[in-house]
Amino acid sequence: MDSSLLTAQPGLPGFVKIVEVGPRDGLQNEATVLSTEVKIDFINQLSLAGFSTIEAASFVSPKWVPQMAASTDIMAGIRRHPGVIYSALTPNMKGFEAALEAGVNEVVIFGSASEAFSQKNINCSIAESIGRFRSVADAAKDNHLRLRGSISCSFGCPYQGEVSAQSVADVVKQLRDLGCDEIDIADTIGVGTPRHVQTVMTYAAREFSVDALSGHFHDTYGQALANIYASLEVGIHIFHSSVGGLGGCPYAKGATGNVATEDVLFLMQGLGIETGIDLHKVVDAGQFISRQIGRKAVSRAGNALAARGTV
Ligand code: HMG
Ligand code: MG
Repeated sequence: MDSSLLTAQPGLPGFVKIVEVGPRDGLQNEATVLSTEVKIDFINQLSLAGFSTIEAASFVSPKWVPQMAASTDIMAGIRRHPGVIYSALTPNMKGFEAALEAGVNEVVIFGSASEAFSQKNINCSIAESIGRFRSVADAAKDNHLRLRGSISCSFGCPYQGEVSAQSVADVVKQLRDLGCDEIDIADTIGVGTPRHVQTVMTYAAREFSVDALSGHFHDTYGQALANIYASLEVGIHIFHSSVGGLGGCPYAKGATGNVATEDVLFLMQGLGIETGIDLHKVVDAGQFISRQIGRKAVSRAGNALAARGTV
């Protein structure tokens, strides 16, 4: 079908922002540890594909997440594309200072809607995490950096099971009060389904502008594309994805990668929704990084388009 004939369906947005999280969320959980040079090459390819935001690094303890240990070198080695926001995870001031030094444009404080996951992932309670994030948030504002907040386990937790929509909204409110410019509602273990996703997004939107909420869906149970569509229906227009469906989360056993960027772009193309991203370049980047890891890309659309040799 000629997608240029399409305009977005009434009620759906005409433009969607895709945040590429492959270099961070994707690679942090791949068993194959890639060289710094390969990671830099990967980010450089993504920079040319048209993403406005690339999550490139993570300034966390290398003992907790060894795959992200080279973040400083990676940030120093990439060719920055004008207008691209390069973001990085910063759980505390130590992480913030390293991120500032590395010249990131956006820092990400990452909490959880589940107490049990907060302890496992960042070694403190939700309330303690908000306390730690306050200094990072203030420092981000002082240094004119964008501030993003991320909420893990918004649809379920590998340790505590159910997570209520109200507990997600409570964390949204606290991150809003810290001054976040954008807040990610994350399905860490991919258990969300469309009606549940709409409920949680609706609760979150009572506390924070729907225009600055994003959907971060892992595709563990194959629900991510359906959940993105369900989110579009309730006004969400920012989504996270990983080229080649890379990744998972080291503190959520069995968690698989983020929804594949190629699949999300193919969906958006079919819906007549603009993203500003070149699907062809993304397919190439997905095939490249999957070859480096030594496996097939976890993207149905990416593999199909690569096999046809055309996009
Ligand atoms: P802690 O042990 O409670 O911290 O860890 P601490 O302050 O007691 O420090 C302990 C050691 O870590 C010290 O080193 C610090 O210097 C060092 P030592 O004296 O033992 O040699 N340290 C650091 N080193 C480098 N950078 C730092 C840093 N902070 C302390 N920033 C901490 C607390 C948060 C640091 C730790 O738990 C940690 O690094 N956790 C990593 C969690 C993580 O990265 N998880 C994966 C990312 S989140 C995710 O994937 C979810 C998301 O995708 C959304 C979703 O899908 O759900 C965002
Ligand atoms: Mg994630």
